[in-house]
Amino acid sequence: MMTVPDLQRRKRDKKKLIVVTAYDALFARLLEQAGIEAMLVGDSLGVVVQGKSNTLSVTMEDMLYHTKLVTGAAQQSLVIGDMPFMSYQASKEDALRNAGRFLQAGAHAVKLEGGRAMADRIQAMTEVGIPVFGHLGMTPQSVNQYGGYKVQGKSAERAQTLVSDAKALEEAGAVAIVLEAMPASLAKTMTEQLTIPTIGIGAGPHCDGQVLVLYDLLGLFDEFVPKFVKPYAHLRADALQALRRYKEEVEQGKFPSESESYH
Ligand code: KIV
Repeated sequence: MMTVPDLQRRKRDKKKLIVVTAYDALFARLLEQAGIEAMLVGDSLGVVVQGKSNTLSVTMEDMLYHTKLVTGAAQQSLVIGDMPFMSYQASKEDALRNAGRFLQAGAHAVKLEGGRAMADRIQAMTEVGIPVFGHLGMTPQSVNQYGGYKVQGKSAERAQTLVSDAKALEEAGAVAIVLEAMPASLAKTMTEQLTIPTIGIGAGPHCDGQVLVLYDLLGLFDEFVPKFVKPYAHLRADALQALRRYKEEVEQGKFPSESESYH
């Protein structure tokens, strides 16, 4: 069973952390079979499961539903629940109550997006025993502020802000920080300057761990494929081919055959 302290020890032991998103029981079991030790129930489900163009409409109820599916199936993994838009931004109290709901749904930790302004939320959660993952760089809940999904931290000034945000999150008690879509050199600096692990997605090879969206990794979601995604399979193409063959065989009277019929 992977725990938060185990995950943090990985940085000291220089052993990479591997995280993949999961949204349901079937894939949670598959991930465990593959030896993946940490799962993020990401609000990316708004895009890959719900078909929206961004994550902003995902609700706490959506997230708790999927979190329960994953925690009900995962036996060994650390499950991180992703706090959706407006479940923690308005107040520290909101943040605390909603984070608690994730733990009641079986998650072991939560993740929230944002820099220094989120430090008081992280501190409050940490004080009551809720482990919190930070998330910096191209944080998708701020897509409207960025004017699209754009790499962050390219200018020296923005890079400096991100480094100082990362330190503020660490000081507040964050157990790890996800670094998304930023230059590899910046993620390297952040990784070196922090004592807590960094988990990169589009942040180069120097992070303490990596995370990918499951459907991107499997080549199942190909409507928008960022440069940082490597599809390790092409399941969308396979699924399409299977569905077309099924349709064709029913139309041609080839399915069901004798072997799929009861006698
Ligand atoms: O929602 C999500 O899946 C995430 C990862 C991309 C880090 O936040």
